Amino acid sequence: MTSPGPWPAITGIAYGGDYNPEQWPRETWLEDMALMREAGVNFVSVGIFSWALLEPKEGLFEFAWLDDLLDLLHENGIGADLGTPTASPPAWFFAEHPDARVISREGHVMGFGSRGMASHSHPAYREAAVRIASALAERYGKHPAVKMWHIHNEYGVPVGEDYSPASVAAFRSWLQSTYSSLDALNDAWGTAFWGQRYEDWEHIGAPAVAPSVVNPAQRLDFARFTDDQLLECFKAERDAIRVHASQPITTNLMANQSYTTDLWHWAGEMDIIANDHYLTAADPNGHIGLALAADLTRSLAGGKPWILLEHSTSAVNWQPRNVAKRPKELIRNSMQHYARGADAVMFFQWRASRKGAEKFHSAMLPHAGTNSRVFREVVDLGAKLGAVAETQGSRVKADVAMLWDSVSIWAQRLEWRPSEDVEPTDTIRAYYEALWRDGVTTDFVHPEGDLSGYRLVVVPATYLLTRAAAENLTEFARKGGTVLVSFFSAAVDEHDAVHEGGFLAPLKELLGTTVEEYLPLREGVRAGISYGADAAVTLDGDVWQEDLALAGAEVKGTYLAGPGVGKAAITRNQVGEGTGWYVSTRLGAEDLRQIFADVYKDAGIVPPNPERDLEIVTRHGDNQDFVIAINHSDDAVAVNAAGTNLLTGEELAGEWELGAGDVAVIRAAAAPEGGGR
Ligand code: GLA
Repeated sequence: MTSPGPWPAITGIAYGGDYNPEQWPRETWLEDMALMREAGVNFVSVGIFSWALLEPKEGLFEFAWLDDLLDLLHENGIGADLGTPTASPPAWFFAEHPDARVISREGHVMGFGSRGMASHSHPAYREAAVRIASALAERYGKHPAVKMWHIHNEYGVPVGEDYSPASVAAFRSWLQSTYSSLDALNDAWGTAFWGQRYEDWEHIGAPAVAPSVVNPAQRLDFARFTDDQLLECFKAERDAIRVHASQPITTNLMANQSYTTDLWHWAGEMDIIANDHYLTAADPNGHIGLALAADLTRSLAGGKPWILLEHSTSAVNWQPRNVAKRPKELIRNSMQHYARGADAVMFFQWRASRKGAEKFHSAMLPHAGTNSRVFREVVDLGAKLGAVAETQGSRVKADVAMLWDSVSIWAQRLEWRPSEDVEPTDTIRAYYEALWRDGVTTDFVHPEGDLSGYRLVVVPATYLLTRAAAENLTEFARKGGTVLVSFFSAAVDEHDAVHEGGFLAPLKELLGTTVEEYLPLREGVRAGISYGADAAVTLDGDVWQEDLALAGAEVKGTYLAGPGVGKAAITRNQVGEGTGWYVSTRLGAEDLRQIFADVYKDAGIVPPNPERDLEIVTRHGDNQDFVIAINHSDDAVAVNAAGTNLLTGEELAGEWELGAGDVAVIRAAAAPEGGGR
């Protein structure tokens, strides 16, 4: 077995996209090479959906076309991210193994003619996937064009949970190895409730649709099991490739856009972290969601450079309204990912498909051809990324961390919660947006992760919080850190059981309060709060209030209306050398900024507070800082940064104007002091 080679395998910032030349005649391949060179493309992902072409019959491999393609790419100085095509098994596979088809929670058997793997637990699927991955690695492990391996595609999308017999059997084995005894399982799942007690492992099934709500602890374990099964598939292919090939191996995560996988779990198994991100067209501030995804991806990479493996040049084709990007938006979006640590900027896909389900999806080379705004911007972006090659490997640092826990999100999203209006990712986004608007760069951490490098830890919507995570946060505060916790956090433990001592009990020392009762609000009811020293500020919450059982915390805000009127809404507590803040209602980003202003003081953070819609992030090199300024607004904005704009060659000093929608990458004249993270 060989060990993974280092990234970067590409010099400078890698640039390109998914390339599916099997959809086109050979003449087009030659045209593609010329146009890729014109656009500065140096890296493409190939073979991701090519299983039926590579293995047209079981065990019969046809590699000639891929040999030609990889040779052609190499001749043109373009590196390949070679995919294993296991997200889309061929028709022969399903004909031979009809029982390997996925069954949905509702009991529907998934058909062919789309994509999505077979049952992740079916032995025939696993065997066939490893066989094709192995054959590819044996043939191309030493090919000079191959710079990276790309396993499967977006694990968990479109197939996550599988209710087929193969999956149910694997779930039982998983439960046996997790719990060892039925008594332990019955206790963890609370099966005394509704008479669910099990006396035989064979009686346990997957949590399929039932007459009423299915045991939430069982559903949570099924989600964990699903994640484990998917990761086992990844590891099996990865290890098969590693026998023959030394290039780094990755898969494309969907950091905050698909929630099937436990991201931290996966990060430890990948040689380099790669992510796909698509703007939510309905969100007018989609660029803030993008920044969140990029920060989360960088955090999964432990701060090391990462790869943006897919985003779109303009509209996608799978949202309800597929809004086209406006001029220069693709450049701003790309530079946001780059600013937040990506050393590769890639799109889905190089050339727009004429046929099939994705013909209305944008591409680097659109249906309109080279005489198009999108292609001109693609060429411009290639030149820009070329101009910042020296920044490769520089890193972003943050004083603030936000918790991210996929398991808590899974748990909170199950049925019969106190209010359907509370969605964990909305809460995360609101807290993130407040920090973004204040110009504060944020990392993400696992609740039980290392917090020691931060001044402030934000805990939005962590419904499920283990005792160990609570102790981690409390210890961070005792040693001088500041923690800010949102409503509906620390309600349950890892089995979705309410914490002994009640809601918030594990954080009582940190926050100086627990929750006596949740007070969800009727639709449309507002929860005004008077906040600040002289109650000078009025904040506008909604959806939720809580009746707090104060145990030492200082009241910073009081409810002005709603069932909690007159009671504590926002609290601050001294613990050891640090502080714990608690916000017991849902607030929007602008109101949260009022609270953050005080929280920063406790944390010793001075927020840069940039002009609205100006995004500034610093990448730190070994001896040099690079300041990336992105103007998301329709007006020119003033920027204060001295140095050389690598995109134009201009020398900048004092205050200068960044044009509407423009981007600058400044090699700083000197490392910024304080506040420059
Ligand atoms: C996903 C997939 C791609 C493509 C894009 C379209 O990210 O990985 O194959 O379907 O969506 O947006």
